[in-house]
Amino acid sequence: MKATLVIKDIDNLITMQGENRPRAGREASQIGLIKNGIVAIKDDRIIYVGDKLPEYIEIDESTTILDGRGKTVTPGLIDSHTHLVHGGSRENELAMKLKGASYLDILKAGGGIHSTVKATREASFEELYNKAKKSLDIMLSFGVTTVEAKSGYGISDFDTELKQLKVAKKLDEDHPVDIVSTFMGAHAIPLEYHDYPDSFVDIIIEEMLPIVAEEKLAKFCDVFCEEGVFSIQQSRKILLKAKELGLGLKLHADEIKPLGGAELAAELACISADHLVAASDQGIKAMAERGVIANLLPGTSFNLQTGKYAKARKLVEECVAVALSTDYNPGSCPTENIQLIMSLASLIMKLTPEEVITAVTINGAASLGIEEEYGSLEPGKYADLVIFDAPNLEYIIYHFGINHTDKVIKNGIIVYEK
Ligand code: NIG
Ligand code: FE
Repeated sequence: MKATLVIKDIDNLITMQGENRPRAGREASQIGLIKNGIVAIKDDRIIYVGDKLPEYIEIDESTTILDGRGKTVTPGLIDSHTHLVHGGSRENELAMKLKGASYLDILKAGGGIHSTVKATREASFEELYNKAKKSLDIMLSFGVTTVEAKSGYGISDFDTELKQLKVAKKLDEDHPVDIVSTFMGAHAIPLEYHDYPDSFVDIIIEEMLPIVAEEKLAKFCDVFCEEGVFSIQQSRKILLKAKELGLGLKLHADEIKPLGGAELAAELACISADHLVAASDQGIKAMAERGVIANLLPGTSFNLQTGKYAKARKLVEECVAVALSTDYNPGSCPTENIQLIMSLASLIMKLTPEEVITAVTINGAASLGIEEEYGSLEPGKYADLVIFDAPNLEYIIYHFGINHTDKVIKNGIIVYEK
């Protein structure tokens, strides 16, 4: 079998080898490290991972050979929670935030998500496409090979919701980074439904979800379950309908107030519950029992300046699988830098480097239901990997705030080079 690309003499090759399922508890520390490692690729798939190239793998002058000395190689990173496609920006909120206005205060005053809704409604398809493409290029430069993208800035304007999902679909076709789409029409109560939120819930259920499912524009449905946004009952109603239509379920759960989002995610066996800053201990236990992945977003806690972070160590101890994402969006977390998120997760939430890399590879893949083909380096899987200009994993996390990426390989092709 002839290899098309080989990386050899890799100082630290992190494979994440093991079962294709979310890794929880002690398993989240097993990263399948190989010293002086070799990865061989044929076309878009991995054909060998180890430390001695077997004879059946041929190399000739057409094989690209990369030198892994002084480098750390990992599976392509997976940013499994973002609000990638949107119009405008919200730097105008900074002054309010510095004066002490909270995220929910700004939202209640008609700012926050509502101001991005306005900008996204006004933006053309091309404008949204170009802005999201720019972000996707940045994400790729940080080593991200798969991104989840939510709608949710059209809300009651369904055409804008569809526009966001179609931009994501077109970018998935055009850009090297893969995009997995989530419908999140339930992202805020539209201002005109302030006094009749249940009517908007009915519209999502009766008019929006069936079309999203029919046109296969999203794999998942997500709801912002929060005080002043969607209640537990409303969230349950929307997600039950999404499930009936064949969509996978996600939930913005207990981000700010402890509403019982973790418990709801467990009740509905959501694939992931995200944020969880205010999740209760019972909610965490229930998530462990139902195998719900905790998708943690420390960049959001950092940027909201609340000083409150999800209890990552408690989640690991209770055997909940942990994923980590940027939550990239124009309000609560305007950064595409997943490497910064990895550092925050370790330095502030006390996850170990091993738990962090697990969270952004195999567990990120599992939270998008793609763990059979992505998230670890094993023969047969897609050849998505990152070569970091860093001698080891700890270094990437410790030397924070910069970009350590040397090269990114997507489907066996070098798509980014420093
Ligand atoms: O995950 N909390 C709701 N949604 C996003 C923020 C979106 C926005 O502020 O525009 C989040 O934090
Ligand atoms: Fe979010």
